[in-house]
Amino acid sequence: MQTNAASAEPRRPAATALTGRQRFLNACACLPVDRPPVWLMRQAGRALPEYRALRQQHSFLELVQTPELAAEITLQPIRRFGFDAAILFSDILITAEGLGQKYRFDESNDIKMDFALRSAADIARLNTEALPGHLQYVPRALRLIKSALRNQTTLIGFAGSPWTLATFMVEGGSSEHCPHTLTLFRKDHKTYFDLAERLTTAVIAHLQMQIEAGVDAVQIFDSHGGLLAPTEFQEASGRWMKEIIAALKGRAGSPLAIHRSPLPAADGAHGLTGHSNATAEVARPTDIPIIVFSPGTHGNWDDLLATGADVLGIDWRFPLADVRRLLPGDVGLQGNLAPALLSDATPEVVAAETSRLLEAMRGRNGYIFNLGHGLPPEAKLENIAALVETVKSFK
Ligand code: CP3
Repeated sequence: MQTNAASAEPRRPAATALTGRQRFLNACACLPVDRPPVWLMRQAGRALPEYRALRQQHSFLELVQTPELAAEITLQPIRRFGFDAAILFSDILITAEGLGQKYRFDESNDIKMDFALRSAADIARLNTEALPGHLQYVPRALRLIKSALRNQTTLIGFAGSPWTLATFMVEGGSSEHCPHTLTLFRKDHKTYFDLAERLTTAVIAHLQMQIEAGVDAVQIFDSHGGLLAPTEFQEASGRWMKEIIAALKGRAGSPLAIHRSPLPAADGAHGLTGHSNATAEVARPTDIPIIVFSPGTHGNWDDLLATGADVLGIDWRFPLADVRRLLPGDVGLQGNLAPALLSDATPEVVAAETSRLLEAMRGRNGYIFNLGHGLPPEAKLENIAALVETVKSFK
């Protein structure tokens, strides 16, 4: 049992029988839990033989766009490892596809967009209104998954941040240093802001659609935030994520105040978020937790807090114990085991490093165990099992 050393509060009876979903939602709201919830970024995918078998028969995009297959792949890691949360099998770049900029993978598995955004005229072609129509396979997959999970396991939806989407869309595909996007932001604020505004609208629509289909939480992947200088981060990325979160929480235009999600303690199986009924048809403000993962932005803690995220995902290049000291106790923290341990180390080493992290976070309400970035395709199944077992048996 994880206890707050400073408080003499008695054990909550409810905390002994939490479902994965309750454990996860409690942690997002910084409420007590029996042990930290656990899931892994990129838990669905190439590390699993059952995924690779399906992938032999279908292209990646076929898997993403066929609701039954996307649902099956989302559930594979839940069946095998019993994670507390499932993340929709999908991709951040379907937002670009929904806007009319299609993509594919080349021979070396790099992303190739059909064209690169290089001018104001290219940007003007992006059609935010068409997005929900193009992405109907997303809510279809989510409804299948939601019903299979029976509210026992959290369902996480996601999208890329406007900045990170812009890097793929402006470069025209995968790029290590994203020079065109950085130059666009640095030289021509007006055009970059026009793009960021459209992407912000698109991401709000994409996440709202997932929320209406019943996800319990969403994560915004700002995977390329770390390419920016700390002085650039707020204008290029932070403020757009803040706008998305304000819109989803029904606070568009509200001042800087950091909002806490008022989730009740987990003492009932249903209705924790008001979203157990997946048939809501009308867009509405939500109190579902929002996670922001922005690797490599360790000079921007204030900007990250100002996004209004309920939980911050922390990458593996910064000690979590330091983040714990630096950030207020009412924001959730998620992370941050080094992903390469899962491919390179032995189960004993993985278990020891997992325990070390759990100890560093002992007594800190609002902690979600995860890797510090995605699970590598070469991860060994016995290492994933050792990680999960160690978290599940943490007392
Ligand atoms: O986390 C999960 O298990 C859910 C599925 C998921 C995928 N992509 C599946 C995927 C999620 C959450 C993503 C997000 C995503 N997609 C990000 C942000 C996450 C991060 O790592 O920072 C990014 C940058 C993308 C774009 C993307 N998709 C790239 C650059 C690539 C090629 C590189 C790679 O990892 O293969 C993809 C392909 C992709 N997305 C695969 C999977 C399982 C591999 C496809 C295959 O089977 O060949």
